[in-house]
Amino acid sequence: MPMTMYTGRTTLSKFLIEHLADQGDQGQLAALLVDVAAAVKSISAICGKGALGGAYGGAESVNVQGEQQQRLDVMANEVFIEHCNWGGQLAAMASEENADLVAVQGERGRYLLTFDPLDGSSNIEMNVSVGTIFSVLDYAQEKSPETADFLQPGHRQVAAGYAIYGPATMLILTAGKGTHGFTLERDIGNFVLTHPDMRIAEDTQEFAINVSNERFWEPPVQRYVAECKDGQTGIRQKDFNMRWIASMVADVHRIMMRGGVFMYPRDSRENVTQGRLRQLYEACPMAFLVEQAGGAASTGRERILDVRPGGLHQRIPVILGSRNEVERVQQYHQDYDSGDDQPYRSPLFNDRSLYSEEA
Ligand code: F6P
Repeated sequence: MPMTMYTGRTTLSKFLIEHLADQGDQGQLAALLVDVAAAVKSISAICGKGALGGAYGGAESVNVQGEQQQRLDVMANEVFIEHCNWGGQLAAMASEENADLVAVQGERGRYLLTFDPLDGSSNIEMNVSVGTIFSVLDYAQEKSPETADFLQPGHRQVAAGYAIYGPATMLILTAGKGTHGFTLERDIGNFVLTHPDMRIAEDTQEFAINVSNERFWEPPVQRYVAECKDGQTGIRQKDFNMRWIASMVADVHRIMMRGGVFMYPRDSRENVTQGRLRQLYEACPMAFLVEQAGGAASTGRERILDVRPGGLHQRIPVILGSRNEVERVQQYHQDYDSGDDQPYRSPLFNDRSLYSEEA
């Protein structure tokens, strides 16, 4: 489906003033999103310097998930916190890079912000697109927020977005009224609305998954991918293409632009039995953006936005993108759970008990 390209000059600030006029919060959400956009511009400038910026290489720290941090991870995190700290719109923040909540300095506002400052950071030194993902929850309460206040299902988000640092830097946003894309005009420093009302095609012939993990997947995912690979002569009767950038933002952005299905399912590897991606920093904001663009987002068994997170760094299976394909994968999970999938059962994976304690 060809997308209408916006040729006018609607800047992000102008868009937000009009788009959020009915928010009833004296412009706090718009002001917060402008701060987020400022953080994104700074991170874009740092990423854009590449090896010349002195930010390549491993940091001396590991993050809360025990992963080695890149220097750019640490810098992007500091930049993001600094930009959002002082505006007076936030009650607290949670970052993928921090074990605990990040307290807000300065005046306190009504929103909670979660973010992954630099997603896909294993790609940084290869000069492959990386991104920032964020989500906003409402918290209009007097008491200081605690971790439990962040553990809300994703349908409670009031805004979410991602920035992609690619050949162009783009910011893709939703505040529950469609998904809209802005392109950074680098020489001027403005985000300009270039992709209003993005829509994800309902059908697709393209899937994105790390196939090297195939032997660890559950049977419904194995079944779905096997059928895609069988192509024209298989049950799907059409050829599929596959893409995997290993940078969620870049993979999801491609799906926003031309459809597709992105999958990071849970699998039988240690640490992946509940999924690999983080619910608050990756899955929920992306699910909100995808649904607002007409797509679907599921764990395979539930709508992602309906799952209550168990902790700040909770992981979750993610299957999102073109609606009809996501629904098919969900159906395969149902068939498997009810035992209706016997003809498709793969001999590679037979042990349901591997997941039983997580279910
Ligand atoms: O969570 C970080 C991340 O880099 C995502 O951006 C990406 O989709 C995924 O991990 C890639 O994981 P893997 O290296 O296992 O394919």
